[in-house]
Amino acid sequence: MAYQNLLIDLKERVLYITINRESKLNALNKVTLAELHTAIVEAFADEKVGGIIITGAGSKAFVAGADIAEFINLDINSARELSHEAHTKVFDLIENGNKPVIAAVNGFALGGGLELAMACHIRIASDNARMGLPEVTLGLIPGYGGTQRLTRLVGKGKALEMIMTADMITAAEAHQLGLVNHIVSPEELLSKAEEILQKILVRAPLAIAAAITAVNASLRDGVNGFEIETDEFSKCFSTEDFKEGVAAFLEKRKADFKGR
Ligand code: COA
Repeated sequence: MAYQNLLIDLKERVLYITINRESKLNALNKVTLAELHTAIVEAFADEKVGGIIITGAGSKAFVAGADIAEFINLDINSARELSHEAHTKVFDLIENGNKPVIAAVNGFALGGGLELAMACHIRIASDNARMGLPEVTLGLIPGYGGTQRLTRLVGKGKALEMIMTADMITAAEAHQLGLVNHIVSPEELLSKAEEILQKILVRAPLAIAAAITAVNASLRDGVNGFEIETDEFSKCFSTEDFKEGVAAFLEKRKADFKGR
């Protein structure tokens, strides 16, 4: 499928999704959110795709937020709909996906951009990246999961400080807070993301999906994560991959997982 605001490239089971609105610092307008939804749904269903790396076009921004120009005409009802759609069709979709998604944060990740990175399973940042949730400067609060995911990742005190001051933090600060997993130079950003993804891609795909489900359950209200872990753990025993993994261990060879 041809996209207006995304570049899509599949190499060695890695789907690269590049948000491509460089003149607007890759701000997430409605079209881009709809395209992200389609691209991610297709990627999760495509056997040729093992995992996804999301990044931004150019060297300046990952994503500088939701498209502020589109906010002007929203009212209480349309804002609720926008937020709800974005949650379900993009941000929760990524977080609850059956394949690993890595954000390669190559510059500004602000507002919806940081929210997108936080919905991904792993974040790698270039050392020049700057991150923040500056919505209160617009008279708003984060609406694509930022108040929840930032709090979960860095704790309530720091999340409230970042959200209420609207301050941007450096990649080094983000790393110290546990908001990003690794910092590298801009030149090494994609290769670091690829290195991590390739390690995951030789593991059993259904076990990876189960791990995502079980870890996510630890942060879901009203859900007993330990029970979800037991469910997911036991389901793994019915997979061909489990038989292959154990056989490979006993035969002292590398496992060849099929995702079945
Ligand atoms: N929505 C819409 N357009 C945006 C945008 C956003 N979130 N962020 C940047 N842009 C556009 C700018 O309007 C500008 O467009 P123009 O050239 O047509 O005027 C272009 O991207 C370049 O941005 P500019 O502000 O000129 O770059 P800068 O280097 O001076 O500043 C930022 C960079 C990231 C600090 C600044 O663009 C900014 O603060 N962006 C908004 C961040 C934000 O509040 N995000 C949360 C949104 S809820």
